[in-house]
Amino acid sequence: MLINVKNVSHSYDMINFIIKDFNLTIEKGEIIAIIGASGSGKSTLLNIIGGIIEPTKGEVLYDNVNIHKLNKRDAETFKLSKLGYIFQNYNLIPFLNVLDNVLLPVVLLKKSVKEYKDEAIRLLKELHLENKIKSNILELSGGEQQRVAIARALILKPMIILADEPTGNLDKDNTINFMNMLTRLVNERKISVLIVTHDMDVAEYATKVIDLNKYNF
Ligand SMILES: Nc1ncnc2c1ncn2[C@@H]1O[C@H](COP(=O)(O)OP(=O)(O)OP(=O)(O)O)[C@@H](O)[C@H]1O
Ligand SMILES: [Mg+2]
Repeated sequence: MLINVKNVSHSYDMINFIIKDFNLTIEKGEIIAIIGASGSGKSTLLNIIGGIIEPTKGEVLYDNVNIHKLNKRDAETFKLSKLGYIFQNYNLIPFLNVLDNVLLPVVLLKKSVKEYKDEAIRLLKELHLENKIKSNILELSGGEQQRVAIARALILKPMIILADEPTGNLDKDNTINFMNMLTRLVNERKISVLIVTHDMDVAEYATKVIDLNKYNF
């Protein structure tokens, strides 16, 4: 899948533009890191590319399809099946246990939970959460919640992973484990990764680094 971000500008209030005329292409197999100061627009840009925020101007094309012009149902199906989100605040569901949170995209897409259960458990083991499979989300540490969010993003084998500071709450070992996992997925499945990070060790894994501080927005 080729993603083309064309002349994207965004303002939340139609006065101040947080992003101006931003262009980017993302090819299969690329790991792109977005860095920049707090408030520089990293999450905004990620959410625009992920089809969650409609940009004030410009377009985001996935293989020439404008994600912001899909009807609501097609957009939801596309996002759930093709994009793997890891949000800055995780967005886990507190009244579902760990396993059910990972299986949420499967349920939302009305796919067979039975079919994906083993994969969910495999991912949780890979992320060192084998003892937490049935735990309540609120009983987990921040880093554990982050790893649940990572498993949920990977369950449906997305074409691109959009991750907002996915290692912000992880220790060094879990950060390296996650980045190695991502690199392996990129190599094996030729997926792409767009990752917002403050961590220069994480940016080291990227094939391209975009520093929003260097843009004159
Ligand atoms: N929903 C919103 N409505 C109005 N302003 C917003 C909204 N979301 C973000 N902003 C503003 O847009 C700017 C960019 O925010 P954004 O969250 O994209 O920054 P960021 O680079 O991700 O920062 P951080 O590193 O702190 O997560 C900030 O000034 C923020 O206050
Ligand atoms: Mg942010």
